[in-house]
Amino acid sequence: MPDDSYLTVTGLSRHFDISEPWLARLVSGRGGRLLTAVDDVSFSIAKGRTYALVGESGSGKSTIARMIVGLERPDSGTIRIDGQTAFDPVSGPTQDSSLRQKLQMVFQSPYSSLNPRWRVGDILMEPIRAFGLISEETAQQRRVQELLDQVGLSAPDADRFPHEFSGGQRQRISIARALASNPHFIVCDEPTSALDVSVQAQVLNLLKQLQRDLQLTYLFISHDMAVVRVMAHRIGVLKDGRLVEENEPGALIESPREPYTRMLMDSTPRFAGGMAG
Ligand SMILES: Nc1ncnc2c1ncn2[C@@H]1O[C@H](COP(=O)(O)OP(=O)(O)OP(=O)(O)O)[C@@H](O)[C@H]1O
Ligand SMILES: [Mg+2]
Repeated sequence: MPDDSYLTVTGLSRHFDISEPWLARLVSGRGGRLLTAVDDVSFSIAKGRTYALVGESGSGKSTIARMIVGLERPDSGTIRIDGQTAFDPVSGPTQDSSLRQKLQMVFQSPYSSLNPRWRVGDILMEPIRAFGLISEETAQQRRVQELLDQVGLSAPDADRFPHEFSGGQRQRISIARALASNPHFIVCDEPTSALDVSVQAQVLNLLKQLQRDLQLTYLFISHDMAVVRVMAHRIGVLKDGRLVEENEPGALIESPREPYTRMLMDSTPRFAGGMAG
């Protein structure tokens, strides 16, 4: 394992029981069914870099993300984050809460992940208080202002509710909330897939700038080759739960080894023209 690696997953697998209810099975005579969502996946992400997982819908991207942040339990494999074991088959998930603070997740749909009844200031304050990061109230308020500023929002936005913002602005709020706990590592699961192309580029640029300013490490998930090309330092291609190909963006795009990778590129309409990055 190279020592600049921030995250390393080894032999990660996850199955889901998708059997029919027992009575239906009895009647139909069919047995139980197990779906392999993630199949023996290994990769690592260098510190301060972006690793992108790309693949079609259902290829297992979100399941990998959820296992890494501890929302889903692997059936096998190990996860190491920042030199610590986050999961191994013998001891299970780590109970170390300092690891939780270091990693955050940004989802595709910010509306469902932001509490609609809370003002933005309270949404950003919550992790600051929950992790006990700042005790003094005026310093907490200053931190909220700083977070808004970092994501391109303004001080009065703290008093508004999520529904008063556009989709792109709401995603900026989600990013600010992720930053509130001073994470080292952020898992971005299709963070711009619900946005218009022009807004998408702005949010991607923001994520890149934050990475540079705060030395963040990203796992970036997308089905869109044009997006991963501008974001990633390294790309892993996921097909039916398996990592079928991995490379740097230039080499992967110039000479994909797998027809599936070529197919993903061909299915991205903007790909031929490229994107501003
Ligand atoms: N809780 C669950 N129970 C049963 N099957 C599941 C569960 N979660 C995921 N799956 C299945 O596992 C496979 C991988 O799902 P996953 O959500 O990881 O795919 P994805 O690559 O993120 O897809 P998308 O691009 O649509 O978000 C799919 O076949 C999905 O139906
Ligand atoms: Mg998904």
